[in-house]
Amino acid sequence: MPKSPDPQDIWRQATRRLTEAGLDGARRDARLLLEAAFGWPPHALTLGTPAVSGEGLARLEAFLARRLEHEPVSRILGVRDFWSLPFRISPATLDPRPDSETLVQAVLDRTEKDAALRLLDLGTGSGCLLIALLTERPHAWGVGIDRATDAAQMAKHNAVSLGVGARSAFAVGDWTGAVQGRFDVILSNPPYIPLADREGLARDVRDYDPALALFGGADGLAPYRQFAVALQAHLVPGGLLALEIGWDQGAAVQGLLQQAGWHAVACLPDLAGRDRVIVAYSPQSLLFSEHPPEKTVGKLGGCV
Ligand SMILES: C[S@@+](CC[C@H](N)C(=O)[O-])C[C@H]1O[C@@H](n2cnc3c(N)ncnc32)[C@H](O)[C@@H]1O
Repeated sequence: MPKSPDPQDIWRQATRRLTEAGLDGARRDARLLLEAAFGWPPHALTLGTPAVSGEGLARLEAFLARRLEHEPVSRILGVRDFWSLPFRISPATLDPRPDSETLVQAVLDRTEKDAALRLLDLGTGSGCLLIALLTERPHAWGVGIDRATDAAQMAKHNAVSLGVGARSAFAVGDWTGAVQGRFDVILSNPPYIPLADREGLARDVRDYDPALALFGGADGLAPYRQFAVALQAHLVPGGLLALEIGWDQGAAVQGLLQQAGWHAVACLPDLAGRDRVIVAYSPQSLLFSEHPPEKTVGKLGGCV
């Protein structure tokens, strides 16, 4: 009977193939792909000698072929950890980035733990920002909007599987086109890459993240121009706006918001020290009313 291949040899060979293709983090990627292909628990390779099956080898070969085409491991496995929570992702959703945790932290730093906040997440994608916030704010509820139906559905799936389904609603729409009522916090990580930068993007991004999630018009600022004028009408007086930005867009986005009359506009850095988030407050003093999440999305698109 032929001897079963040694898992360590398989790991070494997979690492070598990824390294030779110029991919960073080859050893870790190879380990994650082996674990998924063979159905091993995390770190089985360092803790013992797990079993190798023929079907597992075939699955691994298919995974490696995809990684060699620069498809990110998170896309191959269909899951990405964000805020220490596992989010399902799909071709319709952005692969959540660690930098975006800066935006979650910015909102947490400016809100009370027990506040009954109403949150609106524009361009929700996998729902990672809104869902992370709802796990940290147990009395809050939120609405996530996306123009991509598949993204809104994936966000809904994630909200349910991560235990905040009852405090959230997701709808398809063009920014606030499908939204009624006012919120305490509006957050967004909109597409902000200038169209002209497309060819310069890494293959992992250009070929696998959806274009709708990446490009913000000719200069990358199109969503912020819309938000600056449109979003005050959807915030309570003194409500918080928190926007992710590109590292070189801080001055431009602050300028747009200041011109539109937002208060206390400030720019916050990510962990690498680069501009990453803009926060601002609504100056209006209008009356507002309570709306449960499912009542705040209008006919356009409707809840998913
Ligand atoms: C940069 S991604 C952010 C996704 C997710 N919030 C995150 O941080 O990982 C931008 C999202 O905005 C959505 N989007 C783009 N244009 C939109 C529009 N006009 N109205 C609503 N959503 C839009 C995209 O489909 C995408 O999911």
